[in-house]
Amino acid sequence: MPVITFANTKGGAGKTTAVLLLATELAQVGYRVTVLDADPQRWISRWHQLSPALPHLNVISYVTQASIERHIADNRYTTDYFIVDLPGAQTPLLAKAIGLSDHVLIPIQGCAMDAQGGANVLELLRFLDDKAGIKVPHSVVLTRVNSMVTTRALLAVKMLLLERGVEVLGTPIIERAAFRDIFDLGGTLHTMDDGRISNLDKARQNARAFALEMLRHVPLRGTKPIAESTTARRFWQAA
Ligand SMILES: Nc1ncnc2c1ncn2[C@@H]1O[C@H](COP(=O)(O)OP(=O)(O)O)[C@@H](O)[C@H]1O
Ligand SMILES: [Mg+2]
Repeated sequence: MPVITFANTKGGAGKTTAVLLLATELAQVGYRVTVLDADPQRWISRWHQLSPALPHLNVISYVTQASIERHIADNRYTTDYFIVDLPGAQTPLLAKAIGLSDHVLIPIQGCAMDAQGGANVLELLRFLDDKAGIKVPHSVVLTRVNSMVTTRALLAVKMLLLERGVEVLGTPIIERAAFRDIFDLGGTLHTMDDGRISNLDKARQNARAFALEMLRHVPLRGTKPIAESTTARRFWQAA
């Protein structure tokens, strides 16, 4: 059961949105997903309460530094992907969660380049490596990217980060109304009404591409995806 933690010490970077997109896309094709909502604002928990029953997706709220390890242990054999949403602050919980993770994903706003929060996390990762020999694989995902931003501009940001030895996902998360609306409406991109949300198809494609890239980065070791539905097979084949 890979543990994937989303971390950026700045609020508004798009962590919670990215957690929700990854969790719902993976659950949609049959992976058993547990989201650990460690943010005191409890956005994911509120969204979950608002949503119709979502098979394969479980949310745990009220997490503390003391309880996180137990939650991971309790779910190890019943969950395929364990995803952690953290508060936008530098807390002991952040260090603890990172130490327990198989992959740390650092969402950074693509256009604003307010990368300081992301830089804090990268520093922490370096510190863990230097002082404790804990090497946690990590990458940056560019978030809230304006759909008009050119591939060339994105490439420039990627190169900048790559020069500093930071891996950047090929799929940026685009700024889409649908990604905001999920939190108000509950459910997923797949239960939303096509006619009422603009560019819903593009939002779905974007979320799917992001989830696929994460599956490639953090594959399930030695196990097959649970659902053997046609959707799941197609999803896998595309990966
Ligand atoms: N890709 C996106 N498209 C549209 N709105 C977004 C996107 N990502 C984040 N937002 C909006 O930006 C705000 C902050 O995002 P959030 O995911 O809560 O960030 P964080 O968890 O890092 O604080 C929220 O209002 C959210 O709806
Ligand atoms: Mg958040």
